[in-house]
Amino acid sequence: MEIQHNTSLKKYNTFAVDVLAKQFAKFSSFNELEELTSHAIFNTQHSTLILGGGSNILFTKNFDGIVLKNELKGIEVVKKDAEHIYVKAAAGELWHDLVLYCIENNYAGIENLSLIPGCVGAAPIQNIGAYGVELKNVFYELQAYHLHDKTVQTFNLTDCNFGYRESVFKNQFKNQFIILNVTLKLNKQPIFHTQYGAIEKELEIMQVKEFTIKNISQAIINIRSSKLPNPKVIGNAGSFFKNPIVSKFRRYTIWEYHKDVVSYAIDAMNFKLSAAWLIEKCGWKGYRNGDAGCNPLQPLVLVNYGNATGQEIYDLSEQIIQSVKKEFAVVLEREVNII
Ligand code: FAD
Ligand code: EPU
Repeated sequence: MEIQHNTSLKKYNTFAVDVLAKQFAKFSSFNELEELTSHAIFNTQHSTLILGGGSNILFTKNFDGIVLKNELKGIEVVKKDAEHIYVKAAAGELWHDLVLYCIENNYAGIENLSLIPGCVGAAPIQNIGAYGVELKNVFYELQAYHLHDKTVQTFNLTDCNFGYRESVFKNQFKNQFIILNVTLKLNKQPIFHTQYGAIEKELEIMQVKEFTIKNISQAIINIRSSKLPNPKVIGNAGSFFKNPIVSKFRRYTIWEYHKDVVSYAIDAMNFKLSAAWLIEKCGWKGYRNGDAGCNPLQPLVLVNYGNATGQEIYDLSEQIIQSVKKEFAVVLEREVNII
């Protein structure tokens, strides 16, 4: 464990934006974390950023503080009952490695969350979700270290207050806790979620005769690989914006002029609109200015074609927000954490 100075974060964020961290350190055990946070820097330094895989972050400038890269490892079954398996994973494990471990052992529940980049510790921050399943559907509890009190606290499902790409850790407890581990409550008997999007069509193409969690995972991997750019090839952080939730009246006003509006009813009064559709209608799909661009296949994803700065990508996101607001009176909210 060593504190580095003026470290490039380019390889630590999937946008591959080249910024410097004033200080940078990795920790791979709880003792190392405690040692780090008792360092004199923490008495004078108030800016701390916990980093997992850097796949939901846009750095717009050098980070004037300490970046702590979480490398805690380990996956174990901590409890079993008649119907469930409780799997505890350390925060620095790759999320997709945890998915593969569960599929291998036939623990059902996170197969629809296959191939989401990043680490286990970040999954609760925005309650990761895909293809009809969210982390909250399988979440049991997590342990987190309070940066200032230096205590370890346990959060259950209610404590986390999960919502669509939301949790207490993005709101009232922002930057206060380091998530150490997450325990999931998985099913011995799978409950298949195949209605969402193109899953059933993909299973047909794969000529699957019988549903298994492995088949579903593979179908989702195929779909995702066909539309989302691989960050190892083109810098991106997945969906840059959330899909906006609007009243049924707002949705109706849009529908009056655009019969092809893509939307889903959330409840009797509200609809989720497809941000990709809104952005495409405003003409941004495939747009490129220098190395900052709007993905030609999935316009919800902003990309770095090479040497775009975080500020250039941020400025493009601001232009998109303003044009969607002008055209549809809908304000897009960024999903990606802007630093
Ligand atoms: P980072 O980017 O490192 O961090 C994200 C935030 O969490 C930061 O605020 C950071 O400070 C905080 N954080 C990270 N680790 C900890 C910790 N241990 N304790 C406290 N705070 C912490 N997301 C989805 O929900 N669904 C998707 O389908 C999806 N698809 C994606 C596809 C692509 C191609 C990409 C690039 C991203 C996608 N994402 C998706 C977004 C991203 O993968 C997730 O948000 C993921 O959980 C981020 O993990 P990370 O370790 O990279 O987090
Ligand atoms: N669409 C267009 N134009 C396009 C592409 C898509 O209009 O060029 C419309 C289509 O009608 C399509 C709809 O957008 O049916 C939705 O597209 P998609 O199924 O790809 O989902 P999304 O809304 O773009 C969301 C999540 C993803 C998640 C997928 C699958 C958000 C912000 N994004 O994307 O999560 O993987 O659904 O569940 O909720 C992420 O959070 O980073 C992320 C990638």
